[in-house]
Amino acid sequence: MASLDALLIFLFSTLLVTIVSSETPCRNFKSIISFGDSIADTGNLVGLSNRNNLPVTAFSPYGETYFHHPTGRSCDGRIIMDFIAEFVGLPYVPPYFGSKNGNFDKGVNFAVAGATALESSFLMKRGIHPHTNVSLGVQLKSFKKSLPNICGSPSDCRDMIGNALILMGEIGGNDYNFPFFERKPIKEVKELVPFVIATISSSITELIGMGGKTFLVPGEFPIGCSVVYLTLYQTSNKEEYDPLTGCLKWLNKFGEYHSQQLKTELNRLRKLNPHVNIIYADYYNALLRLFKEPAKFGFMDRPLHACCGIGGPYNFNFTRKCGSVGVESCKDPSKYVGWDGVHMTEAAYKWIADGILKGPYAIPPFGRSCLRSEIENKDSLDKQFTLAQACVKL
Ligand SMILES: *[C@@H]1O[C@H](CO)[C@@H](O)[C@H](O)[C@H]1NC(C)=O
Ligand SMILES: *[C@@H]1O[C@H](CO)[C@@H](O)[C@H](O)[C@H]1NC(C)=O
Repeated sequence: MASLDALLIFLFSTLLVTIVSSETPCRNFKSIISFGDSIADTGNLVGLSNRNNLPVTAFSPYGETYFHHPTGRSCDGRIIMDFIAEFVGLPYVPPYFGSKNGNFDKGVNFAVAGATALESSFLMKRGIHPHTNVSLGVQLKSFKKSLPNICGSPSDCRDMIGNALILMGEIGGNDYNFPFFERKPIKEVKELVPFVIATISSSITELIGMGGKTFLVPGEFPIGCSVVYLTLYQTSNKEEYDPLTGCLKWLNKFGEYHSQQLKTELNRLRKLNPHVNIIYADYYNALLRLFKEPAKFGFMDRPLHACCGIGGPYNFNFTRKCGSVGVESCKDPSKYVGWDGVHMTEAAYKWIADGILKGPYAIPPFGRSCLRSEIENKDSLDKQFTLAQACVKL
């Protein structure tokens, strides 16, 4: 009898642990809602573009590795959010713009290549010229306008947003890219950081007000390792390069600075919204790790060259980009980190996604156990209940 009691206590405490752990802010997601730029664009810029003036991502060899045709992703294959979707058991997130009668039941993507966090009018006043005006604010407005079509009534929409994994970015990179590409002084670019962070923060707050409960918020990349920056800011001063990676130290420092400011702001948001799960995605350190030990993770040594490009010290030329006529890609993109000079290969994106989903590059950790599909979780809960009932009958 004593041993039966012990068994019952054991089984009930297992049940209790299961129930309690399902109450943690980690959730089973019913959809993915995404905002951002080219790092997360699954076809929006192409959808927004005039057929006679399509961006390079609408052309081969974009998409060659996985989809075997261009999809509008700035990559040879899947991007980070595709791997996230796979991991949480949801379909690849369809682009919102330019899709007629799209089905957004399981996800909707507003990320547009070239998008900035700040309004284009704000940047233009500072002499910065964005390539698109579909800023984070415009994406959020489009989302709000689309809600009746996506989820119907306000209360249904609140549920939908609450059950979604909301990807807030990557966004902000272009706010810095455009002035850096125009060789504006770093001091002027640095002045933008608090505005960018405030914009990301207020967008999260607005979505929390609409019912948002889980956010994944990526920081900046180590842009000093990026082909476009290595090409543009090439220097004979060896001091400027990290001897281990060959990356430009001052630009990586800038990426770190933005990321640190973002982390601080997310901490503030967490305190204000203790019921909301805000996960920081450390793109910076995930990618930097790859540049530090590329061979260990299956990449070539010193993987600083673009796979798809032409000429120059890093196989990149601003006026002859990947996707243009006569520009070819490398034989084995899986050995390269950089795809087209600005964006990464599918292999590098997979590495980053794994580091966020299963590895140490999410703060707090993504937590595999709480991300099983809803059905799986229900099944296991049902089993626990059945087991417990069986014991009671005993
Ligand atoms: C964005 O730019 C397009 C033309 O490039 C224009 O038609 C549209 O009104 C602009 N949208 C906003 C929100 O400024
Ligand atoms: C880039 O391409 C243009 C046009 O083909 C060429 O004139 C220029 O010299 C190239 N630049 C580099 C750095 O190779």
